[in-house]
Amino acid sequence: MEINNTHYTSLWYEASTDRVLYIDQTKLPWELVIREMKTFEDGIRAIVDMEVRGAPLIGVAAAFAMYVGNSPGITPGEMADRLIATRPTAVNLANAVEQMLLITDNGQPITDNSSLVTGHLSLPPRKWGSLFLDKALEIRQREIDCCHMIGEHGLPVIQKIANRKGGEPINILTHCNAGWLATVDYGTALAPVYLAHDSGIPVHVWVDETRPRNQGARLTVYELSQHGVPNTLIVDNAGGHLMQQGKVDLVIVGADRITANGDVVNKIGTYLKALAAFDNLVPFYVAAPTSSFDPDTATGKDVLIEERGEDEVLFINGYKNRIAPEGTRVINPAFDVTPARLITGYLTEDGRRQDYKTDKQSNRLS
Ligand code: MRU
Repeated sequence: MEINNTHYTSLWYEASTDRVLYIDQTKLPWELVIREMKTFEDGIRAIVDMEVRGAPLIGVAAAFAMYVGNSPGITPGEMADRLIATRPTAVNLANAVEQMLLITDNGQPITDNSSLVTGHLSLPPRKWGSLFLDKALEIRQREIDCCHMIGEHGLPVIQKIANRKGGEPINILTHCNAGWLATVDYGTALAPVYLAHDSGIPVHVWVDETRPRNQGARLTVYELSQHGVPNTLIVDNAGGHLMQQGKVDLVIVGADRITANGDVVNKIGTYLKALAAFDNLVPFYVAAPTSSFDPDTATGKDVLIEERGEDEVLFINGYKNRIAPEGTRVINPAFDVTPARLITGYLTEDGRRQDYKTDKQSNRLS
């Protein structure tokens, strides 16, 4: 995607210098800061502090953390355990780490040194270096390809509404940031939006600000605007009101995990948007790659919901200004569960899937 007419992805490998580089998302939209992930601890910190965030991207970042962190002092299994604990809700992270582990002897050191390669210039050669690098690059490329395909499969959903609206803009509501910053390129929820815009369909996006970290206000507005897609920022509680007024044609959100029964775990507040969409007969789509699907977990109730620190809620302006009295009690669940029955359909790299449910919103809308 473009920033000031230069092509960027959210995280990339620079082969000429053997460096892993990424955009620090905590600095956007104020500054474009590129950081290097030099060590395993850098990778852990980048994920925990949400310098990299978004389900597909944290999977990719974890894979590269295992590449840069690969050293005699820590086994792949130990790296995997620490990474999975950083952000437990998005299944993409665990999926990526498991793929990295599969190329070692189940996470234990292997004796074959044939894959020794020179690592970062300042570091000693790394065992499994080339295998880890190849796998991390493969995981990254797959996320890019999947997101592009999601866009292609989502485009007809927007086109169908466009045909009905006869040239009027299609108003799409989204929550959090499920664009290229959250993936590596294109995005999940935003991929169909970008493709529609690029193919001349008039789209306009209602962007939920997404308290407490404001991924919508800071990141979604930023990337849509960089791409020239018309958008309007709204407070998190405005979506239902806009739907009642007939100002929302379609909701598309991403997912951090989709369980076997089709429940969707996504950024806190997604559930309320789904309820409002259901009540107002607004189609509600979830866009996600295979890496976000978790067939081994039965329902959303079985997913561990990440709890984040209270300062995210108590302070604004980069933790400078307190907005509640001293001593205020806080809970800060980062995700919620949208039951499958509220979801119209799923946009994946394989196409448009509606095969999870029998009693579902898509029946009401068809
Ligand atoms: O806490 P975050 O910012 O990592 O949460 C991101 C979301 O909830 C996204 O909607 C989700 O990861 C889908 S990303 C394509």
